[in-house]
Amino acid sequence: MNLGLFSTKTLVETAPDHPCEVRTQRLFNVEETLDAQGQKTWKQESTRTTTTIAKYAHYQASSFQESLAAETGKSKEQFQKSLAKSSAAPQPTQVKTVSTTSATQVKGGVSRDSDSDSSSSSSGGKKKSKMIKFGTNVDLSDRHKWKDQLVELHKLPKWLNVTWAGNGLSHLGHTVLGMNSVQLYMKIPGCRTPAHQENLNLCSVNFNIGPGDCEWFAIPDQYWGELYRLCQKNNVDYLSGAYWPLPEDLFKAKIPLYRFTQKPGDMVFISPGAPHWVQATGWCNNIAWNTAPLDVDVFKLAIERYEFNKLQSYKSIVPMVHLCWNLAKNVKLKDEALHSLIKYVCMKSLQHTGRIENLMSSKGKHIVWHGRQDEDAPHYCFSCELEVFNILFVREVEKQHVVYCIDCALKISPILDGFVILREHLTDSLSQTYDSYELQSESAVSEVVHSLLTFNPQPSTPQAVH
Ligand SMILES: [Fe+2]
Ligand SMILES: [Zn+2]
Repeated sequence: MNLGLFSTKTLVETAPDHPCEVRTQRLFNVEETLDAQGQKTWKQESTRTTTTIAKYAHYQASSFQESLAAETGKSKEQFQKSLAKSSAAPQPTQVKTVSTTSATQVKGGVSRDSDSDSSSSSSGGKKKSKMIKFGTNVDLSDRHKWKDQLVELHKLPKWLNVTWAGNGLSHLGHTVLGMNSVQLYMKIPGCRTPAHQENLNLCSVNFNIGPGDCEWFAIPDQYWGELYRLCQKNNVDYLSGAYWPLPEDLFKAKIPLYRFTQKPGDMVFISPGAPHWVQATGWCNNIAWNTAPLDVDVFKLAIERYEFNKLQSYKSIVPMVHLCWNLAKNVKLKDEALHSLIKYVCMKSLQHTGRIENLMSSKGKHIVWHGRQDEDAPHYCFSCELEVFNILFVREVEKQHVVYCIDCALKISPILDGFVILREHLTDSLSQTYDSYELQSESAVSEVVHSLLTFNPQPSTPQAVH
């Protein structure tokens, strides 16, 4: 594969004015984050602005040049000092690590001395650390603008492809940026992606384009509850907050931690629900997207998170009910457990529609036929951000028609005054999809996907797939 198509040089040549989100962060040692008082914290603060690919590319290149000049100057100085003292060769900068993977990169790595020039990298220091910029969430979904790049990705094995029949996200019918489309990340040393699980616990595919490395941390999905508790203890919101877990806190809580280096050309495949966080140790670009292999374990975790998000009032950007109906309509499954799970979600959705219909008729409210086009984006409640499937409660807010879920609509007006109630699907058509949704006899989805998802290396083994 020609990953050079995603190099900064090619990106600038292809679309210099393409937007690039910027996260301005403080530079810290990979193992810790310090607050304004110099105390260790889990909070990962950043501010958000936007720029263009060309402008970020300029920043990325200048940062590399500056570091190179500093390193060259320092080497000369150290060499002269060592000569004057008649001592042995200069000692490399010492960096403490929690595993055998060294955080120090000789080539293209964080200059540890420049760390200490601009910040106190040890606890208790009060000097402010250097500010760095992370170019993030660059949208590469445009098939015309990024044709060469997207075509190149077709060379990947099918199960890693952004779009293919065995990927649930390919059946959504609309684009969810960064999930069923490619996103690009442009980095200098120290740029951090805070800890997170993927949306709905789905899988993610991440390539390091290089030239520098990235350092990854990950914990098995079974420990997410422990991580949730540690987040509460450290005053960060598990779902919406930005945090960088301190390795020592994870060890104390007996949470196994994977730590590994992603070299240029390495792909990291994050299995369902595994929390992970990443820091660039060199100058590099990454590309990433999500996949939802049609596998029962993937969908169990996804539905579990969909329900958990509802309890936490956190928006699920993958509309699971809409997705399950699309899968029931379009995909013949051979996996009995997955088939039953999807059918169950459809059944609950039918029951929910039935309850709303009964309630509306008891209130003497008419549900107006509205219908929907396949490419229409699914609806979310304006108030609670819950997915609203089929029956929409629509009201005018500031001269715009907005959709509510039934609960929020009833909270606003128990008699639904000012609401128009719309129907997107005919009950007969949903019932027919449900009744005709049958199992196929043999597994359509490659066994490879299942064996990969159940692959469970020991914590000392990197999860990167080369
Ligand atoms: Fe991720
Ligand atoms: Zn609502």
